[in-house]
Amino acid sequence: MSDHFEVKMQAINDYENRPKAANPLKIQDLTLRDGHQSLFATRGRTEDMIPVAEMMDEIGFWGVEVWGGATFDTMHRFLNEDPWQRLRTLKRYFKKTPFSMLLRGQNVVGYRNYADDVARAFVEKAAENGMDIFRTFDALNDFRNFETVVAAIKDSGKHFQGCICYSLTEPRMGGDVYNLDYYINKAKDLEKMKADSICIKDMAGLMAPYDAFDLIKALKETTSIPIHLHSHFTSGMAPMTHLKAVEAGVDIIDTCMSSYAYRTSHPAVEPMVMSLIGTNRDTGFDMKQLAGINEVLEREVLPKYKHLLDDSKVSIIDINVLLHQTPGGMLSNLVNQLREMDALDRINEVFAELPRVRKDLGQIPLVTPTSQIVGTQTVNNVLFDDDDEDYKMITAQVKDLCYGLYGKTAVPINPKLQKKALKGYERGSKPITCRPGEVLEPELEKAKKEIQGLSTDLEDVILYTLYPVTGKKFLMWKYGKETPPDSVKPRTLEDVKKEEALIAKAKAGKLVEKSDREAPEKTEHTRTFNVFIEDEYFEVSVDEPDGPPMITYAQPPASAGAPMPSQPQPQRTSAPRVSAAPAPQAAPSAPAPPAPKAKPAAPKAKPAPAPAAASDAEGTPLKAPMPGMIVSYAKKVGDSVEKGDPVVVLEAMKMENSLPAPVSGTIKAINFASGDSVSKNDVLCVIG
Ligand code: CO
Repeated sequence: MSDHFEVKMQAINDYENRPKAANPLKIQDLTLRDGHQSLFATRGRTEDMIPVAEMMDEIGFWGVEVWGGATFDTMHRFLNEDPWQRLRTLKRYFKKTPFSMLLRGQNVVGYRNYADDVARAFVEKAAENGMDIFRTFDALNDFRNFETVVAAIKDSGKHFQGCICYSLTEPRMGGDVYNLDYYINKAKDLEKMKADSICIKDMAGLMAPYDAFDLIKALKETTSIPIHLHSHFTSGMAPMTHLKAVEAGVDIIDTCMSSYAYRTSHPAVEPMVMSLIGTNRDTGFDMKQLAGINEVLEREVLPKYKHLLDDSKVSIIDINVLLHQTPGGMLSNLVNQLREMDALDRINEVFAELPRVRKDLGQIPLVTPTSQIVGTQTVNNVLFDDDDEDYKMITAQVKDLCYGLYGKTAVPINPKLQKKALKGYERGSKPITCRPGEVLEPELEKAKKEIQGLSTDLEDVILYTLYPVTGKKFLMWKYGKETPPDSVKPRTLEDVKKEEALIAKAKAGKLVEKSDREAPEKTEHTRTFNVFIEDEYFEVSVDEPDGPPMITYAQPPASAGAPMPSQPQPQRTSAPRVSAAPAPQAAPSAPAPPAPKAKPAAPKAKPAPAPAAASDAEGTPLKAPMPGMIVSYAKKVGDSVEKGDPVVVLEAMKMENSLPAPVSGTIKAINFASGDSVSKNDVLCVIG
C-alpha cells in the first residue's frame, strides 16, 4: 500500500454530516462533453443540459467539462447550434463550478494545425465566454504545439492543464517508446512550461490498473503539480485503474453521471464516491444529490438520445481495444467507413494493416486527429493498394504529417513513405523540423474577407476558419440566408413517444389495422399459397370474387443493386426508384394499370455548376472512390489537366483525399459543388 493512501475508516453514524477527508479525491464531471461525445456521437444539445446544470453545480465537482473535443464541430454541423452560445448559456447556470474544455493544442478544435493567430484568438474568445480550465493536448505529444495557446491561456489568467496522451505499442506500458521514462520526461517538460496541472489522457482505456499505480506514483514523486487521470471505460479496466490511481495518490479523476457512463464513455461517479466514503480520500459528495441528477437525465433527457446508443452488441465492454489498442471512436469510424464502402468483411485486414501504418507514420499516439489519419490511411491501403503499389491513395493529412506539419513523431517516419508522400507536395518535398506554427501563414484576415458579406463577428470568423465548408453553411442558417434542413432539428419527447407507440403497435401486430368488416364466405376459387419470409412460414388464402385468381408478374425493383445515394442529391436527374411496377405484358386478361410514371426530377436547388451534365458530357469520368463530401474542385470546366493532376478534394471520415485526373484532357463537366455529399461511384467530373 502506498504512503498516499491509508484506509482510515471512520465510523460513520451521520452520513450526511460525515467528517471531511484530509485530502479528498477531486472529481471532474464529463457528462456534458466527453460523456455524450463517447456514447451519443456528441449530439447532446444545450437545451438538454440546462435541466441538470444547477443541480450539478451543487455537487462540488473540481470542474465540469462542457466544451471542446468534437462539440464545436458537431454543434454547428449537425445541431444548428452556435458553439460559442453554449458556453454563455451554461455559464448562467453554473455559478460555482469551473468550466473545463478539451483543446487540441495548435489543432484548436479542428483536425489540423492552425496558424498562431487562429489559435490565440480562439483561446481568448473561449476565456472571454467563460472557459476556466484549458485541458490542452497534442496528438503527437509534441509540446511545441502548446506554445501559442499556453501563452494565450496564461495571458487570460486561466488554468493550463497539460496533457500527455497515453499510448502503447504493446499490451502493457513499456517497450522502446511508451515506457515509464517517456511519461516522466513529458511531465517534466510540462512542469517547465508552467502547467497548473498534468493530465494523463488515456483516451482508449488502455491503461491497466497496475501500470496506473506505477505511473501515478512515479509522477507524484517527480513533479509537484496536481496529477489528473482521464481514462475511458471502453476496455472495462478504468474503474480498477482509477482505484489503483487513487491508491498511488492521484489528485483528480474524471467520471460521468452513471446514466452517461460505461461503454466507450467513462466510469460512473457514484461507485467511486461510495467506495471512498469513510477514507482519507472521501469526496464528500452527496449520493442523494447525485441520484437526483440521474433521475432528471433518465426521465427528461436520455429518451431523446437512446436511439443513438450503439446497441449492436449486448456487451458493454469492447475487447477489440484490448486486442488492437485502438480507441473506441476510431474503431467505430473504421467500421462506418468500411460499411459505406460495402467492405465490412475486410475489417480484419484493416486490423492487421493498422500497426504497420502506425509504425510507418512514426508510432504516433492514436487520438484525434491522428487516430483518423492512421485509420483512414489504413482503410485506403486495404481498399486501394495492390501487389504493384503500396500507399496508392495518400490522404492530404498523411502528406501534412510527413511534411512535419503536425509536429515531431515519436520515432522517425518511414523515409520511403515520406518521400512518396511529399512528391509534388504543395509546401515542398523537404520536411520541416521547426514548430509547425512557424510555417503557417496567418489565416484570420483572409477568412474575414471571405465571409465579409455574411458576418464580421470574430467568433463567426473563427468558426469559419476552423470549418470553412460546414462553418459557412451554418452561418448561412444563422443569418437566415438558407433554411436549415429538418435533419438538424431537435428530437422532442413527443417525437419519442410517438415512435414508441408505433413500435408497440408493430410488436403487437396491429400496425396494419384490421378491417372491421366481416369476412365473406370462401368460394370455390380460393387458392392457398405458402409464403416463406426468411425462416418464417405463412399460409395465405387468395380468393378473387370475380373468378379464378390471376397472377400478375411483378417486376424487380428498377434499380436493384445500383448504389443509392445516402442523401437526396438535388443535382440528380434519374427517376426515383420504382418498386415492383406491374408489367403490362404479363397480365393475361384485364389490362394492367399503366406503370406509374416516373416523377419529373425535383427542380434543381441551384444552377448546375457545369454547362453539361455528366450523362451528356463525353469523356472519362472521375468517380468518387468512396462516399464523402466535396471540399473543392481544383479545376473549372474548360481547364486542361494532365493525368495525375489533383482535380477534386473529397472529404471522407474527416480526412481530405485529393483525387487525381485519371487521364489527360479538358474538364468537360463538373457535377457537384463544394459542400455536396456524394456516394461511391458518383461521377464527380468528366475529362474529355
Ligand atoms: Co476522452
